[in-house]
Amino acid sequence: MDKFRITGGRALRGRINVSGAKNSALPCMAATLLTGESVTLHNVPYVRDIITQRRLLEDLGAHVLTPELRTHKITAAHIELFEAPYDLVKTMRASVLVLGPLLARFGKAKVSLPGGCAIGSRPIDLHLESLKQLGAEVSLEAGYVVARAPRGGRLRGTTVNFDKVTVTGTENLLMAATLASGTTTLNNAAREPEVADLAELLNRMGARVRGAGTPTITIEGVETLGAAEHTIIPDRIETGTFLVAAAITDGELELKDCTPEHSSIVIAKLREAGVEIEEVNQSTLHVRRSAGGLRASDITTEPHPRFPTDMQAQYMTLMTQSEGRSRITETIFENRFMHASEMQRMGAHIAIDGRTAVVEGPTQLAGARVQASDLRASASLVLAGLVAEGETIIERVYHIDRGYEKIEDKLRGVGAQIERLRDSVTSSLPPIAEVGVL
Ligand code: EPZ
Repeated sequence: MDKFRITGGRALRGRINVSGAKNSALPCMAATLLTGESVTLHNVPYVRDIITQRRLLEDLGAHVLTPELRTHKITAAHIELFEAPYDLVKTMRASVLVLGPLLARFGKAKVSLPGGCAIGSRPIDLHLESLKQLGAEVSLEAGYVVARAPRGGRLRGTTVNFDKVTVTGTENLLMAATLASGTTTLNNAAREPEVADLAELLNRMGARVRGAGTPTITIEGVETLGAAEHTIIPDRIETGTFLVAAAITDGELELKDCTPEHSSIVIAKLREAGVEIEEVNQSTLHVRRSAGGLRASDITTEPHPRFPTDMQAQYMTLMTQSEGRSRITETIFENRFMHASEMQRMGAHIAIDGRTAVVEGPTQLAGARVQASDLRASASLVLAGLVAEGETIIERVYHIDRGYEKIEDKLRGVGAQIERLRDSVTSSLPPIAEVGVL
């Protein structure tokens, strides 16, 4: 398994181009199952989860062309299989996003229960209960969800009230409702920008979705959906990660191809913590540490537009370098502090009390051999390595390859001393030449 070797202490200076959002590309790729015509997606990030989603669509029978690395032309004209198998879903729970589209277009779907992951149990009960409200018959068989549309083959529009805000739950129901008979209203829907981006694609395909990005989404069902072309929004979590990278190394970065308005709360909290951020224009941010230095500031993770859980680990790293005591409360996932124990091994002063981590800073971190446990924890360990004294080796970087496009190249491009120690046997990303850019 690949590792990263980082020598800390370099201030990052220069320009980084932000990639497309993994968490928008994944539902948008699933949405292509809703039509037999071609759907072309641009600005798709070259990350491991996208390769996994592409393989799943091809296993179902879709045809995927990649005319250039970040453009996918997907045609689901001849779908012969309606099943997302366990060995694939267990590696990427976002595979459950094929459930809604398969059910809506073909009236049937068999998707492995995703099982838990490092950050929590990750149930999909809200997805299933809501699909039942659209008339689906849902049963659990040997670890699989088996779903069928009601007799007559078409889901029926209705009002769905989500007990909890669920991003992929909202996305599954949004996709399923586009081909249902009648109108569906989703209440307490997720408001993440990725949900609005999916709705934008669906409407280009001929759907009638209104209110995406607000807590109430209305979908008027149509008979069929058609061809479309769509550019995926920039990744707001990658943007936030690089904002922290500039601040924590006392450097100065310009982030291009980003969408500042999707990162409003993160920008506001970082400014409170002593980070100087200028919104140069609608796609560019300029960031550096303020003259007064970094200072402790509390956060609580909540659904968008509040502070995103996917930025919690990266923010914790920043707080190890900030003056004072900060309280970080994680309300979304039950086990999302695993990065804390690795940072403690680097010298960080962090005390975990249930859902809250208390960080005392600043502390000089010392390089160490550490292990990545999940995607965002990995990113926080890279940030720690950038500021630690000496050498840090991060193991299991396949976690970070799931959601960050060539992060070591981007960081090295602005002065970081970071290299990938490739394990040729199990390397997590095939060299680009092998990706099959046709
Ligand atoms: C999405 O996961 C993201 N993944 C996650 O990003 C992100 O952390 C999460 O939303 C929260 O923002 C994708 O978009 C592919 P949820 P999702 O359903 O949809 C509970 C990353 O790092 N819940 O919004 O799986 C759940 O346990 C990943 O890129 C139920 O109880 O998250 C959690 O406590 C990690 N029942 C809360 O709701 C359900 O049926 C929010 O989960 C569904 C969810």
